[in-house]
Amino acid sequence: MTGPFDPITIDGIRIRNRFMRSATWDGTATDDGGVTDASVKIFEGVARGGVGLIVTGYAYVSEQGRPAAGHGQYGVSEDRHIGGLQRLVKAAHDHDAKIALQIAHAGIAVGPFRRGDLVALAPSRIEGLTSPHRALTSLEIEEIVSDFGAAAARARDAGFDAVQLHAAHGYLMSQFLSPPTNRRTDKWGGTAEGRRRFHVEVMRSIRRAVGEAYPIWMKLGLQDHSDGGLQLSEGLDALKVLTAEGLSAVEVSTGRVAGAARVGKPGDEERPYFRSDSAEAKRVVDIPIMLVGGIRSLSMAEDILGRGDADMISMCRPLIREPGLIARWQRGDTAPAKCISCLKCMGLPLRGEPLECAEERRLREEATGG
Ligand SMILES: Cc1cc2nc3c(=O)[nH]c(=O)nc-3n(C[C@H](O)[C@H](O)[C@H](O)COP(=O)(O)O)c2cc1C
Ligand code: SF4
Repeated sequence: MTGPFDPITIDGIRIRNRFMRSATWDGTATDDGGVTDASVKIFEGVARGGVGLIVTGYAYVSEQGRPAAGHGQYGVSEDRHIGGLQRLVKAAHDHDAKIALQIAHAGIAVGPFRRGDLVALAPSRIEGLTSPHRALTSLEIEEIVSDFGAAAARARDAGFDAVQLHAAHGYLMSQFLSPPTNRRTDKWGGTAEGRRRFHVEVMRSIRRAVGEAYPIWMKLGLQDHSDGGLQLSEGLDALKVLTAEGLSAVEVSTGRVAGAARVGKPGDEERPYFRSDSAEAKRVVDIPIMLVGGIRSLSMAEDILGRGDADMISMCRPLIREPGLIARWQRGDTAPAKCISCLKCMGLPLRGEPLECAEERRLREEATGG
């Protein structure tokens, strides 16, 4: 039976155990997307703390696709980003962790980061949305497809073990897959096949840019968990098609849902909310499946792996609070993660401060009377 500390080999890359740090926007990048000393420190901490694989926070593939301008998001849109990104790779590799760069385009999901008179780009106009946005032209879609290819080539040149496409959480790839945000009637929409064409073309563009061997992974929202949104059957069909295109590992998450539905509610019992989707994915494709969301204990990780519902255990917030969590579990201290899923950490980069556990900060300030 597979256990959490068993190694796994994906695309010839040996990962020392089944734990991965899910992509985490950490707010430490410079205004133009560059890596800083604070970024490197976070990656060193998590790598030293025992995870087998780290996925970076989402890096924008083009200036227009940037959801968090001025809010410390990494860029991979220009060759000048490569040098800084190499520092993240070194931080991981120096401590025997593998590392993938998550690459993304925000589309309409510019949210609170909207700057000036920016008109957001979406697959099609979105009913009821009053903020300035418009549908992408076919030419613009093709440009973004090639931006993804160029970004993946930079990831490879920086030394990342793999690239992970962000196709979850309502960013552009989610928007293409989801019927309410993709009402196009041309080849980029109209049918389930049309709605997933963007993903297929992005994968082909990356293949052209990086060759046959470089690993392409994806964080994929298999369904939107909302009426009228992307349904699981369509998400699984997309996964099958993408696997046939050469996708070689998938992290199962959610599509276009907001806040709590995406990360669970504060005070939730330990509840890996996408576990059944991950188990479905295991049934339909034969590539490694990574499960994220709400996993807080070693026993839960053992259960998920033991029952074959996933091949890797992915966590975000527990590793913000305790970067050394995996090493702690491996040493035999198997108390659950200290993270209480309050999500207050998200507020820090939103305010322009580097990411840390806000609960730890509160306790620290309480203890020092600060
Ligand atoms: C501060 C913060 C930043 C995040 N940044 C990203 C990101 O850049 N890309 C991404 O795919 N998910 C991001 N997420 C979502 C997490 O990767 C993960 O899917 C979610 O938090 C559920 O996992 P957890 O319960 O282990 O925290 C972020 C979550 C948090 C709390
Ligand atoms: S602020 Fe809350 S959700 Fe974030 S790491 Fe700390 S305890 Fe977990």
